[in-house]
Amino acid sequence: MTTDSKYKVLLLGSGGRENAIAWKFSQSSMLDSLYCFPGNPGMEAFGECILGKVSDFGKIRDIIVEKKIDLVVAGPEDPLVGGLKNFLLEDPDTSEVLFVGPDREGARLEGSKDFAKEFMCRHGIPTAVHRTFSASEIEDAAMFLKGLKPPYVLKADGLAAGKGVLIIDDYDEAVSELKQMFSGKFGSAGSKVVIEQFLSGIECSVFIIDDGEHYMILPVAKDYKRIKDGDEGLNTGGMGSVSPVPFADDAFMKKVEERIIIPTVKGLKDDGIDYRGFIFIGLMNCDGEPFVIEYNVRMGDPETEAVMPRIESDLLSHLVAAASGNLSKEKLKISDSTSVAVISVSGGYPLSYEKGFAVNGTEKLEGVILFHSGTARDADGRLVTAGGRVLATVCVGKDLFSARRKVYDEISKIEFDGEFHRQDIGLDVAKYL
Ligand code: AMP
Ligand code: GLY
Repeated sequence: MTTDSKYKVLLLGSGGRENAIAWKFSQSSMLDSLYCFPGNPGMEAFGECILGKVSDFGKIRDIIVEKKIDLVVAGPEDPLVGGLKNFLLEDPDTSEVLFVGPDREGARLEGSKDFAKEFMCRHGIPTAVHRTFSASEIEDAAMFLKGLKPPYVLKADGLAAGKGVLIIDDYDEAVSELKQMFSGKFGSAGSKVVIEQFLSGIECSVFIIDDGEHYMILPVAKDYKRIKDGDEGLNTGGMGSVSPVPFADDAFMKKVEERIIIPTVKGLKDDGIDYRGFIFIGLMNCDGEPFVIEYNVRMGDPETEAVMPRIESDLLSHLVAAASGNLSKEKLKISDSTSVAVISVSGGYPLSYEKGFAVNGTEKLEGVILFHSGTARDADGRLVTAGGRVLATVCVGKDLFSARRKVYDEISKIEFDGEFHRQDIGLDVAKYL
């Protein structure tokens, strides 16, 4: 740690989530300097972006040594599931660095759906009834499916870039998909398949910071996964988000805390996992009762873009404390405003799309925060599209209606060939206000 308790921070990742975290860190009096690996053009204002891939653990190690990094914050799950924390702890040159994110074992909460389900069953955490099968058990798997009511939920056990969950109405089609999963449709991620009961309800995303013993509950958010208004069409990485979530009221959150958060934090500790980092709990609200759909070992994207602007206290301080096992002394302060994040995507996304189109109009935005998800600079330094999800426009308003109005007034100023965004982000939750 630097002498005056200012921190040199290395933030891993390159999406809107990391841009939002970098923006939040930039407001901290505890920040000495920020390095983003690899970062994106939206993060250049907050730190030095260093080219490379988060899968390059050797390069991460070298940056930590060269820049005298005090704290590493992992944005995405892949390096965590791949054991980045173990890699750094085992190297004498980096073993002292503070690290936000679990080690390989803790990251199995996201990296293996079977591990996550077993964890929930072991610790009495409410989730859908399930069984896990391997390829040699296809007959048993088909029998188990038959005993469930449609739609059928099939999940590849391992990481499958967010595509490993299939929800299928027809039994024969479900069995056929199951066979394809066992034959390598999702590579080794599908060598085991979790089959579970379909839960009917409305989803929300709960985020906590865990220091191994204590936890802090961050603002709740809801994301919008489908490409079209009304949550129709193909699944995407997320088309927008809103925070808070009106149906996640105090009574619901009390149940979430008692039945899910406390047993999760305690369960990890009891299982010998010293978990220091974010936990993202994907929840289904089934008639007011919370059930865990999934755990992720990171923040959500695009939820983070709506969550960060509502945190009034110092996130960097909270994360330093979590990584040091001192979270209990931290005080979280959340604004009672509402934020709405709307994602501008490339035409054609989530199927094939072109990149490299000039992005114009961002300089005209007023009263909103802009986070970059998939942008790059061309040879002349101009901003161009570089991904499916391109930009997140975020408005923080006194209520849902004013935040929505403002965000939609402003997002219309953003121009690039094929720009598309949903018009209905946050609309469905208005009925719960
Ligand atoms: P996951 O990758 O586990 O988050 O699953 C992707 C999406 O599939 C979730 O966000 C839910 O919308 C849906 N899903 C997963 N499991 C279930 C379930 N048991 N019942 C209903 N929907 C589910
Ligand atoms: N928004 C869902 C996720 O980040 O997985």
